[in-house]
Amino acid sequence: MKVIQCGLGLMGRAWINTVQASSNVEFAALVEVDAATAQKRAQEFGLDPALIYPSLEAALAAVKADGVIDVTPPAAHQAISFAAMDAGLPVLSEKPLAGTRADARAIVAKSDQTGVLHMVTQNYRYTPLAQTVKRVLQSGDLGDIGAVSVRFFKGPHFGGFRDEMDYPLIVDMALHHFYMLRYFLNADPVSVYGKSWNPPWSWYKGDASAAVTAHFSSGAVVNYTGSWCSQGQETSWNADWRFECANGVLTVQDDRVYVQHLTGLEDHGGVHFTTHDALTEVPLVPMELQAQAYLLHEFYEAVTNGRTPGTPCQDNIKTVEFVFDVVESFKTGAPVTR
Ligand SMILES: NC(=O)c1ccc[n+]([C@@H]2O[C@H](COP(=O)([O-])OP(=O)(O)OC[C@H]3O[C@@H](n4cnc5c(N)ncnc54)[C@H](O)[C@@H]3O)[C@@H](O)[C@H]2O)c1
Repeated sequence: MKVIQCGLGLMGRAWINTVQASSNVEFAALVEVDAATAQKRAQEFGLDPALIYPSLEAALAAVKADGVIDVTPPAAHQAISFAAMDAGLPVLSEKPLAGTRADARAIVAKSDQTGVLHMVTQNYRYTPLAQTVKRVLQSGDLGDIGAVSVRFFKGPHFGGFRDEMDYPLIVDMALHHFYMLRYFLNADPVSVYGKSWNPPWSWYKGDASAAVTAHFSSGAVVNYTGSWCSQGQETSWNADWRFECANGVLTVQDDRVYVQHLTGLEDHGGVHFTTHDALTEVPLVPMELQAQAYLLHEFYEAVTNGRTPGTPCQDNIKTVEFVFDVVESFKTGAPVTR
């Protein structure tokens, strides 16, 4: 299968690596609007400079391909997706589906109308950590999930488009965790409320810190708190999680999964306290392909064998709506209910 990759920036490097490591997928062409970046990547990865075009339209006119991988900034996703789908080419798009709610809805409408596959790279789902958490929650061992708390704190100095976004933490990063909430809970938010702020030392133009409460259709209540300009004691990119369940608790701490079960009640002079078994670390499930490699394989299977991928835009729009409902709540100061 031959693909055209658009965008050769930070994440573009990861995708070049992934395609070059694949035995099923190869490049028909690459696209980069910035000539200096194009030249740098050609040297770095030993790519034929003649295969790197300045626009997707130019690449589509010059080569035959089976799909497009979009690794451009969010603001460019709608135009790239439209050009690809209008040419009948399936799209594997980096998250977020688009930079605005309107662009994201337009992409889904285009995919529906053309019947062309459009899927989003929710790579956090396809890791041993996420699959282990999902397996434990799905097994029913801990019972119903009543509440989830998620803590995410990092301090990356990316430069570029993120520094200019109105809500970089929520739209470009928490979106991963919001998607994982939907995946873990197998439910969607019905009401969200949030407050965002920008600490005095922040290097972002928009709000880089936030606290969000979300009520899910399953009945679970979520508390999310995070910052993208934290100055110490950072969490992992996956965040730290705590699932409060009917029969115990599951936590994710520093990319390790722990469970503890309720065992009963103990009488302390008429007051009863809960008792628990020992805190147990859950071994991570092994995965042959992970993250981008898994998603590329899913894209390949979808395009060549018609297999339905796990992250089509028709589902991903619900994550985008979640994200922009939260942004709306930041702006109005009121809860947003669906
Ligand atoms: N899934 C993840 O874990 C993850 C991690 C990082 C970034 N991302 C996503 O990847 C995307 C790109 O992020 P990045 O960090 O690589 O950004 P970046 O700014 O480093 O790179 C983007 C590149 O796209 C180029 N570009 C812009 N418009 C273009 C167009 N119309 N056609 C072709 N090239 C174009 C830019 O010149 C730049 O080189 C974003 O959507 C981001 O959210 C995802």
